[in-house]
Amino acid sequence: MKDNQYPPLPQIRSVFRTDSATNETHTKDMWRNEMVSINDGKIKTQMLVNCIQKIKLPQDSKIICVPGGIGRHADAIRKLGYNVTNLDRNKEWLDIGRKHFPMVNHLEGNFEEAHKYVGQYDLALFEDVIDGPYDESEFRIVNSWSQVCDVYPKEKNLKLFKFNSKLIDQVYNHPLYEMNKIIKEQMGFGNLEMRVTIGEVDSYTVESVICKGPEWQIKVDPSGPEYKYQLLGDWLNNDALGHKAGFRGLMCGAGFHRKMVRKNKKDYGMINVDT
Ligand SMILES: C[S@@+](CC[C@H](N)C(=O)[O-])C[C@H]1O[C@@H](n2cnc3c(N)ncnc32)[C@H](O)[C@@H]1O
Repeated sequence: MKDNQYPPLPQIRSVFRTDSATNETHTKDMWRNEMVSINDGKIKTQMLVNCIQKIKLPQDSKIICVPGGIGRHADAIRKLGYNVTNLDRNKEWLDIGRKHFPMVNHLEGNFEEAHKYVGQYDLALFEDVIDGPYDESEFRIVNSWSQVCDVYPKEKNLKLFKFNSKLIDQVYNHPLYEMNKIIKEQMGFGNLEMRVTIGEVDSYTVESVICKGPEWQIKVDPSGPEYKYQLLGDWLNNDALGHKAGFRGLMCGAGFHRKMVRKNKKDYGMINVDT
């Protein structure tokens, strides 16, 4: 069999977002890649508009979208009658936004610096916490903004997928015992984010998990004997039609139990809970 006849590999990437990398790696190219990762199109805008409509804020309330990219969702929310600011660190996106969504206030800034915005907004809307995989750095940022203004969302709806996959068995398998042990550990304890399409799994089940701030406590039991793999995350939607193409999130077959603690006045961090 020629190399290019193998099926495509499930996609894997480091769970660390680029904003947790060092300043040196904050290059323009990495910032651009972040935008390429968007795959939700109009479905996401509608989802965010629905969320804001449910909250029923008074007209003219000041909402800051964190992070807003070009401000495409901010503009849709503005049309509901709010005063909306789009916060992003990437000037390139903001300039595109200024051209296409001129009624939004586009603000260049770092969402890690919530303390700079005390008293300026009624609500900080975390656009990327509403959908997307389990990401502890997002919980930390929501908590620091909660010291500054009201925040949305205050909880994260996740899915726990249990599945078997002969493809993953074959691909992530190493002939050396020690290496295989490391792969198992990484698949077990939430160190790897994986994107798996439905065609790559043989069987699966899905359960809902809700993780609530400010503790964002989450307890996932080991996957059990019936399923070899377990992933905490969300559906991977096919952009154009919103079909469920697969799932993405943290591999956590061995289970975990985590919660957020306050480290000092400004900072929060997730710790393992002893059980
Ligand atoms: C995947 S994009 C999503 C943008 C927007 N929520 C959307 O759905 O169109 C992530 C955005 O986060 C921005 N970003 C990443 N780290 C940031 C930080 N520390 N402060 C401000 N913006 C940041 C990036 O520039 C990028 O525009």
